[in-house]
Amino acid sequence: MKAMSRRQALLLGGVGVAGTAVGAAGLFWTLASPPGPVTASELIQPQEERSGDGQLQVRLEAGPGRIQIAGRAASALGYNGGIPGPTLRVRGGDVLRIKLVNNLVQTTNLHVHGLHVSPEGNGDNVFVSVEPGGSFDYEYRLPKDHPPGVYWYHPHHHGTVADQIFAGLFGAIVIDEPEPIKTSAERVLVISDTRLDALGNIPAVPAMERMIGREGELVLVNGQTNPQLRGRPGERERWRIINACVSRHLRLRLDGQQLQLLGIDSGRFSEPEEVEELLLAPGNRADLLVTASTGDSVLRALYQNRGSMPGMMGPRLGPRSPADQPDGIALATFRISGEPAVPLTAVPSYQGQPDLRSSAVAARRQLVLTAGMGMGRGPGMMRFTINGREFNEARTDTTVAAGTVEEWTLTNASPMDHPFHLHIWPMQIIEENGQPVATVRWQDVVNVPANGRVKVRVAFKDFRGRSVYHCHILDHEDLGMMGIIEVR
Ligand code: C2O
Ligand code: CU
Ligand code: CU
Repeated sequence: MKAMSRRQALLLGGVGVAGTAVGAAGLFWTLASPPGPVTASELIQPQEERSGDGQLQVRLEAGPGRIQIAGRAASALGYNGGIPGPTLRVRGGDVLRIKLVNNLVQTTNLHVHGLHVSPEGNGDNVFVSVEPGGSFDYEYRLPKDHPPGVYWYHPHHHGTVADQIFAGLFGAIVIDEPEPIKTSAERVLVISDTRLDALGNIPAVPAMERMIGREGELVLVNGQTNPQLRGRPGERERWRIINACVSRHLRLRLDGQQLQLLGIDSGRFSEPEEVEELLLAPGNRADLLVTASTGDSVLRALYQNRGSMPGMMGPRLGPRSPADQPDGIALATFRISGEPAVPLTAVPSYQGQPDLRSSAVAARRQLVLTAGMGMGRGPGMMRFTINGREFNEARTDTTVAAGTVEEWTLTNASPMDHPFHLHIWPMQIIEENGQPVATVRWQDVVNVPANGRVKVRVAFKDFRGRSVYHCHILDHEDLGMMGIIEVR
């Protein structure tokens, strides 16, 4: 780890209030969050990198640093000194090149979550390892008709994914549609959780909590606790919300404002959906229009029951019960004042959402997710498996013919939820617990409820190669709940 020059440190801050504490060994950046009471500070947008002439080239340095979290100095990790890292803004047809530089003391790599790009070579290849001090040049070629929406990037080196994200390694990717919707503001809200000990370090997470799926007590928006956002009555904003928490489901409300959901994860619905509440499993994103009315509203994460531990009576998963926290966790405060804005025209309907419900299905598969006591990991340790097997990098679990449509039944044979994620190829949700889904819904993370089942269809088009599917409770993924798919 090298110290940085003052100039570099300033460049990393991006918003003009960056700290410049340079020189202490290993602590070469401080985050942009202002010191002092972080609550009620203005929401900061991560630095944005936008493509031009069909290209975007960025350098992402994963490294340790000193940052303000919840008003305290903490030792964390970040990309280019930020939590989150820079927002990458691209369009269908673009080439995105990322040089990943590893300034960590551990192996890492990069995954572009949700992007429909090649999984091979220097594409979205999760089998690449970037060692400490090393770097890797990724290149992602987005198809011209890539679904618009909000995506994200994070490390994907098996075994340390949860720890590295919990420490701060994540950032947003936005894919703009050719004709963007008219709005008065666009914001990225990356929601993450973490934990700090008395010294401002992120403590190691005990085995029991990994099995449950860790939930950090500090829930942050763009690295801040309960920041505020300001708008005028009648203004329509577009919020890109990412659930970057390792294991926490986010049941979100913003009472008092009008919410229209444009899409979840990948692409857009044909018409915006009026919603009062939004459930984002770990890894999910929401593309949301917020029309301001009056007064102050708090964006809250309400308690979400995600089951209980297999074989254990006692407590529900997650650190809080609804009784402890009836109002949930305050994530951000939206303050509305001033002259009413001129209303914007209605959102045009969106074409270009494929529908596989009437497609010919080339194969039907069952994927069974289990979490149970078993041999192999030692006393008291559970095994997290898909179709009875833990992850093995050398084994290919599922082989698919390129160009075909398949129907997968995801069955959860455990008493806790597992959000199922497939790389590269998004999934259309066909059925939930036996009930057909009436609208066209594409997602890349699909929550499979405790003892429940979800049917999805996938078009394995455009790319071949080896990639993965896994539980996006990333502790479960690191513990083995991941399989390998090869499309050929
Ligand atoms: Cu968000 Cu396999 O990852
Ligand atoms: Cu992913
Ligand atoms: Cu899981």
